[in-house]
Amino acid sequence: MIELGVNIDHVATLRQARREGWPKVVEAARVCEDAGAHQITVHLRQDRRHIQDHDIEDLAQSLRVRMNFEMAAVPEMIALAHRIRPHSVCLVPESREEITTEGGLDVAARVEELTALTAGMHERGILVSMFIDPDLAQVEASAATGADMVELHTGQYANAAEADTPAELERLRTCGDAAVRLGMLFNAGHGLSIRNLAPVAALPGLHEVNIGHDIISRAIFIGLDSAVKEILAILQQHAA
Ligand code: PXP
Repeated sequence: MIELGVNIDHVATLRQARREGWPKVVEAARVCEDAGAHQITVHLRQDRRHIQDHDIEDLAQSLRVRMNFEMAAVPEMIALAHRIRPHSVCLVPESREEITTEGGLDVAARVEELTALTAGMHERGILVSMFIDPDLAQVEASAATGADMVELHTGQYANAAEADTPAELERLRTCGDAAVRLGMLFNAGHGLSIRNLAPVAALPGLHEVNIGHDIISRAIFIGLDSAVKEILAILQQHAA
């Protein structure tokens, strides 16, 4: 079974649009858990545009499934992760101007720094995932840091013209195979949806996907419970 992490950042986006206490992130997480999600993923951005510090604290208290904490590799977030001790951290690049995480982390350019960061997480029992573009040099660099997993950025696959989709899938397959060969788990995320998930689910060795925007968008029309379940059904039906 390919595992599903539901990214609930955009529940907080809706809440922050009014700066009210509603909709509640913790309640959304509970619905996802009850629908069968294996993990809840949250990204505390440095600009606090959606998830807030108190959401992380509240989720740490209330989650029954594991928490995957997406973070920039900066001292403030490292200290928070060390204190909260999520199941895993996923290291992402972050720039204040971007609408969403636009590309993968350049692990190859920061191996020494990220090796130390990974060791610090491991000392506290936290697994480390590198969010990288499907590029073999980045997969190899991730393995060199001691990371437990890579999450391959599927944004280019998701946005590719139809004619380019097979080549994008091939990049994901090659890098996923390499990650597994190097002893890491192979995860995928970004831009995945009910429209494009099936071919990704069929990639050999895929361990987990993290999906946010599409699930929360679908929830407007069919409810969060059903939106999670339809993704789980695609994963089940198409897994290699
Ligand atoms: N995985 C990572 C590392 C991300 O940064 C994001 C976006 O925050 C996602 C998955 C989810 O992407 P989407 O919202 O497009 O499903």
